[in-house]
Order: sequence, then C-alpha cells, then structure tokens
Amino acid sequence: MFENLLFETDGPVAVLTVNRPEKLNAVDNATVEELDRALAAVEKDAALRALILTGAGGKAFVAGADIGELQRRDFIAGRTDTRRRQEVYTRIEQLEIPSIAAIGGWALGTGLELAMACTLRIAAENAKLGQPEVKLGIIPGAGGTQRLPRLVGMGRAMEMILTGEPVDAARAYEMGLVNRVVSPESLMDEALKLAKVLAKRPRLALQYGKEAVLRFAEGSLAQGLAHESYLHALSCASEDKKEGVRAFLEKRKPEFTGR
Ligand code: COA
Repeated sequence: MFENLLFETDGPVAVLTVNRPEKLNAVDNATVEELDRALAAVEKDAALRALILTGAGGKAFVAGADIGELQRRDFIAGRTDTRRRQEVYTRIEQLEIPSIAAIGGWALGTGLELAMACTLRIAAENAKLGQPEVKLGIIPGAGGTQRLPRLVGMGRAMEMILTGEPVDAARAYEMGLVNRVVSPESLMDEALKLAKVLAKRPRLALQYGKEAVLRFAEGSLAQGLAHESYLHALSCASEDKKEGVRAFLEKRKPEFTGR
C-alpha cells in the first residue's frame, strides 16, 4: 500500500513508521503524500483510538527533509512544499484521536516538526532533537518556528533555531519538548503502553480535551505558518542555501557568503 511507510494496527492503536532507514528516514514529498493517505485511513477507522508515529531502523526518527530533494527547492517549491507539509502535519495535530511520536535517534528539521505536530512525545535515551536548517542556509518550514516556541518558550526556541544545534533526550525532557525518556529497547513498548492507556479513556473527552488545548495554543498559528512558509521560500532563493545543501551532499564544510 505504501513505499515509504509501514502502517500497522495493534487493536485500537495504529502505528505509522517512516520507512527509509537508508536515508535515516528523511521525508521527501512522496512520503508526505503517503502520510496524508495514511491519515485519511486513520480518520476513517472508528475503531482506532490512538496513533503512534515512529521511524524505522533505530538510528533516526526522521533526519529531516530529503536533502537531495531540497537541492532542487527554489522559491516557488519552497512555498508549495512547506504549505503542503504544514497542511499534512496540521492534519496529524488535529486528528480526533491523540498521537504519540516515539523518537529514537535523530529527530531533525522536518522530523522534529513532525514530532511536534503529535499530541505527545516519548524519546529514547539516544534521541537528539534539533532544527538544523540554518546550517543549510534556510529556516524551518513545516511548523518549527511556530510549534517549537509554543512547546519550549521563545528563548529556547530561538537558541535551537538560530544555532541549529540539537539537544539530547535529557535536555529535551527538561525543556518540556518530550513527555518522557525511556531506554531505546523499551521505546515502542512504552509508546504502546501509553497509547493503550489513552485508548481506554473516553473517546469524546479526549477529542474535546485535545481540541480545547489546541485552541489555547492557536493564537495566530495560521498566520504564523503562512509567514513561516514565505520566509522559508525566501531562504530557498539564497546562494547560501545552494552552498549549504551542496556542501552536505559533497560531505564537506559549507562556505557561506551571506548572499
Ligand atoms: N536527506 C537525505 N539523506 C540523508 C539525510 C537527509 N536529511 N540525512 C541523512 N541522509 C543520508 C546520508 O546522506 C547518508 O547517505 P549515504 O550513506 O548514501 O551517504 C545516510 O543517510 C546516513 O547518514 P550519515 O550522514 O552517513 O549518518 P551519520 O550518522 O554520520 O550522521 C546525521 C547523522 C543525522 C547527523 C547526518 O546524516 C545529518 O546531518 N543529516 C542531515 C540533517 C539535516 O540537516 N536535516 C535537516 C534538513 S532540512
């Protein structure tokens, strides 16, 4: 049914796994479309009561947007790709049932943005979470500039987005970026255990509780996302973006010129 995702159910719990381990589960546009289709299936299945999102292979949840694809992203694609990602991630955020990101290894860029669209986050002790876009000469574009400050506060979000440096699981817990930290071996068991607790709670109360909390966070999220997408698209038009992405693919240090 999917090329880049695994979709399984365990009783009332759906488990969606980004399955491109050879690319550390980097999310390309095709994967975004598959995610959207999988979410449609989740929405239609009234027996489902919780969703777990995770990454295959143990090394990464998702190590960002596919940088090969990013190389071709110009101003126009910078806008359309980010708006589409924002839309699909917002669909996860607004599911009637709660979602849990089970994060093992790297959750970078669009990976952290995907995890932040989930209702709750469990990290393995080896998790590293970050918004490294600045190192490629761009800014986050799938919700990072809006959801990260909502979760951890403006100062911490600024530091992560402007330095591009990741935080480890312990620091992420301290910041409120993840709800709990567990051993890598027990990550999926713990996520399933939590999902099953949620699945036993009254469905409508969960739905309304989620909706109410999201309303609190809403403020000008829609405007913030639109603005973010334009600024991301602008960063896609810079020389430093071309250099940053090229340097990554050529496995060398980038030489930024400020243009
Ligand atoms: N897009 C495409 N391919 C990616 C990728 C991405 N975001 N992240 C990793 N990969 C690929 C690597 O190119 C490599 O492929 P190769 O074996 O064909 O060379 C493979 O996945 C393994 O990655 P590698 O860099 O060798 O692993 P590592 O353990 O040394 O480093 C990271 C792990 C996460 C630190 C490093 O892969 C990285 O910095 N990735 C990019 C992160 C990023 O900037 N994401 C945000 C994009 S907006």
